[in-house]
Amino acid sequence: MTVDLTGRSFLKLLDYTPEEITYLIELAADLKAKKHAGQAHRYCEGKNVALIFEKTSTRTRCSFEVGAHDLGMNVTYLEPGSSQIGKKESIADTARVLGRMFDGIEYRGFGQDRVEELAAFAGVPVWNGLTTEFHPTQMLADMLTLRERFGSLDGLKLTFMGDAGNNVGNSLMVVCAKLGLDFCACGPAKQMPAPALVERCRGIAGESGSTIEVTDDVERGVSGASCLYTDIWVSMGEPAELWAERIALLEPYRVTEELMGKAAPDAVFLHCLPSFHDTKTQVGADIAERFGITEMEVSDDVFEGPRSLVFDEAENRMHTIKAVMCATLGGASAQ
Ligand code: CP
Ligand code: NVA
Repeated sequence: MTVDLTGRSFLKLLDYTPEEITYLIELAADLKAKKHAGQAHRYCEGKNVALIFEKTSTRTRCSFEVGAHDLGMNVTYLEPGSSQIGKKESIADTARVLGRMFDGIEYRGFGQDRVEELAAFAGVPVWNGLTTEFHPTQMLADMLTLRERFGSLDGLKLTFMGDAGNNVGNSLMVVCAKLGLDFCACGPAKQMPAPALVERCRGIAGESGSTIEVTDDVERGVSGASCLYTDIWVSMGEPAELWAERIALLEPYRVTEELMGKAAPDAVFLHCLPSFHDTKTQVGADIAERFGITEMEVSDDVFEGPRSLVFDEAENRMHTIKAVMCATLGGASAQ
């Protein structure tokens, strides 16, 4: 079956079939090879895309910008607070305006309902660059990185340690269920994915032949895992007052060398980034001063160690985001 994603939005992986997700990962691998070989791939020449960021970003913004330029497109960046969105103009009105000018629109911001509404009214593909609930483009990069390391995703177990109910934890559970990886959400009960999403993913995992586990038991979570994955303990949009509670709740789930040693012998470490693994950031230094800890969700030695694939993963953001734009804007057929 040929996959054609022309005109589709990319809002969450629940909307995509395993074949479509695999197609995007393979397209990304192909575009990555072309980029590394210096082979031009301007498959969307002359198109225009808008990037709306209501939250800050390094990787996602740069991936959309570089990816769009490599595909021959022009980019308009709307930074947090710099447009009329939400304050003076509704999402639906914004969508209808931007849809008249652009061929595709990226949105990073708050509730998933906002990006869904944007897509409902824009008339052009809309791409989710992170919402409170989901971070689907991150998943394509993560799966490409694991495929590169292990050759295939078959038989892998991925364990998310810590704040498993955040956008990245939720999305990992969905992508693992779709692509047949065993997934384990390992953290305190209070930070787990919503039960309804867990049940939905268990249904999907049943079809792909994988399992979804939810546990607060660290030993059980890491056992047999091919990948330990974590993310920051307080996400964008959450109040800074949460740090004290989150540190107390999540410290037992920090990914350390000791925990990596209890995972599969060839286990790797992934993190969507940015990460608090030392005190070289404003937040890291502030937390060290207030709470006396110098590393948070991952120890510095794991982050910097040989099992850490975080910078390959970050590079893969660009190749996979490029694949999403290329496929949904019809550029893949120009290949
Ligand atoms: N992983 C990720 O989305 O990074 P940014 O917040 O820098 O875009
Ligand atoms: N959970 C994090 C992911 C950042 C890429 C956040 O939403 O801030």
